[in-house]
Amino acid sequence: METNNLTKLTSWQKLETHYKQIKDKHLRDLFNEQPERGLKFTVNSIGLFMDYSKHRITGETLDLLFNLADELELVEKRDAMFRGDKINKTENRAVLHTALRAPKDAKILVDGKDVVPEVHAVLNKMANFSNRVRNGEWKGYTGKRIKNIINIGIGGSDLGPVMAYEALKYYTPRDMTFHFVSNVDGTDFAESVYSLDPEETLFIISSKTFTTLETMTNAQTAREWTLKKLKDEKAIAKHFVAVSTNEKEVTKFGIDTANMFEFWDWVGGRYSMDSAIGLSTMIAIGPENFNELLSGFHQMDEHFKTAPLEQNMPVLMGLLSVWYNNFFGAQTVAVLPYEQYLHRFPAYLQQLTMESNGKHITLDGMITEYQTGPIFWGEPGTNGQHSFYQLIHQGTKIIPCDFIAFRQSLNPLGNHHDILIANVIAQGEALAFGKTPEEVKAEGTPDWLVPHRTFEGNRPSTTIFADKLTPEVLGKLVALYEHSVFTQGIIWGIDSFDQWGVELGKVLAKRIIPQLTDLKTKLDHDSSTNNLIKHYRKGL
Ligand code: F6P
Repeated sequence: METNNLTKLTSWQKLETHYKQIKDKHLRDLFNEQPERGLKFTVNSIGLFMDYSKHRITGETLDLLFNLADELELVEKRDAMFRGDKINKTENRAVLHTALRAPKDAKILVDGKDVVPEVHAVLNKMANFSNRVRNGEWKGYTGKRIKNIINIGIGGSDLGPVMAYEALKYYTPRDMTFHFVSNVDGTDFAESVYSLDPEETLFIISSKTFTTLETMTNAQTAREWTLKKLKDEKAIAKHFVAVSTNEKEVTKFGIDTANMFEFWDWVGGRYSMDSAIGLSTMIAIGPENFNELLSGFHQMDEHFKTAPLEQNMPVLMGLLSVWYNNFFGAQTVAVLPYEQYLHRFPAYLQQLTMESNGKHITLDGMITEYQTGPIFWGEPGTNGQHSFYQLIHQGTKIIPCDFIAFRQSLNPLGNHHDILIANVIAQGEALAFGKTPEEVKAEGTPDWLVPHRTFEGNRPSTTIFADKLTPEVLGKLVALYEHSVFTQGIIWGIDSFDQWGVELGKVLAKRIIPQLTDLKTKLDHDSSTNNLIKHYRKGL
């Protein structure tokens, strides 16, 4: 198979030459040479403040990265996405999560049909339903108020809802409980319903395809759990709603389509938290807050569409990621929110980034001869500081970090917030500037201990600040990463919107399921797989 010629482009080769000139330059020198870079390399727009001055770049690096983006027609391709062109080539689909947060008067055509009215019709239906559940008008089969919401879904039909619920918990009613069942491991379901009463419980079965094995298995179990107590099929209509693109399968499952919230094939699973997949979020935070969330997404869409590249947060973030991934050989990106409510944000970003850009075949069907999607990971600060930050500071790997922080705490308690924020600012400073052997010696450290206590520094980070964590800010942050992923995908020439790599495991699992219990089946896998199946059978 042929390889892609990205690395032969003039703009790429210029970056390679530039990399050789800059790679040994220390951030200390960059700041000495350009003392005002901490003011210069920042963006302050739409309520977010992004400081990217602690990156191993100069103005020239940025110019060269923008040239690369130009040569690869980033702007034209961005516009094609917003227009509704079928840029998801391998699935022949438009990519229009941006239409989910478009204002009512926008017009976006897919196959000649304006999709905006449908989007708003579903939002209205969701708002109506959410209000009825929240105010107790929607009752369970036996007339009891719904107190517990359980979203059953996996991947994009789970990670967005659970992340958003956790992130926005401050805005949720505390007399309701929210649970998210995703894993096919029965423990997930069993523990979620442990102390719940089916009469007060509503299940939202969330699945774009409504065929996903894990979700359908959990949904069936939920049905049995409900019927065990309520003993009447008619109860299903009061305790189950569906979110899906697949009306046929929803009906087959026994859910009335009146209780179905629709979305469309032009919304990718990992880009769907602001579609009807966000129904649990809307019930949790209320329709007004959900609208704020959508407004935050939309503001970032507009920023991505209109801000000049040098002030464009998703473009900068995406291109910096390419810079480290492809020139410095960085393998990962750490996302480190200094906000406890964002504790599931890194997990959410793992699907968004890695299912999108974990590809090695280009849109033209060629092999990439360069690295693509980095590994995303992270934990909230300050917890990470007491576990893995050692490696980021003194390990052998370069790990660009995204710090996310807020000027105000939602739960101000004494001086907790000052301590939290001092820590996030200190981490960026320590990573960038480190501590020289001379400084360590001057503290009276014995010679033999000096190398251990020296911090080489020169480790890059971005710091993003917002005023406080609101639904609107969450929308902006998610859209920031969505468009950064898009920017990277354009540079690498891959389809960021398909996910063929998850298929094989699903097919093989379906084949193995009956083999585990049907002891008569002759096993024809490799010796390791056969042996593992036999090992499991012995425990039956
Ligand atoms: O297996 C991967 C995947 O297809 C994701 O892309 C998707 O978010 C998830 O499964 C769940 O799919 P569905 O919403 O169709 O159940």
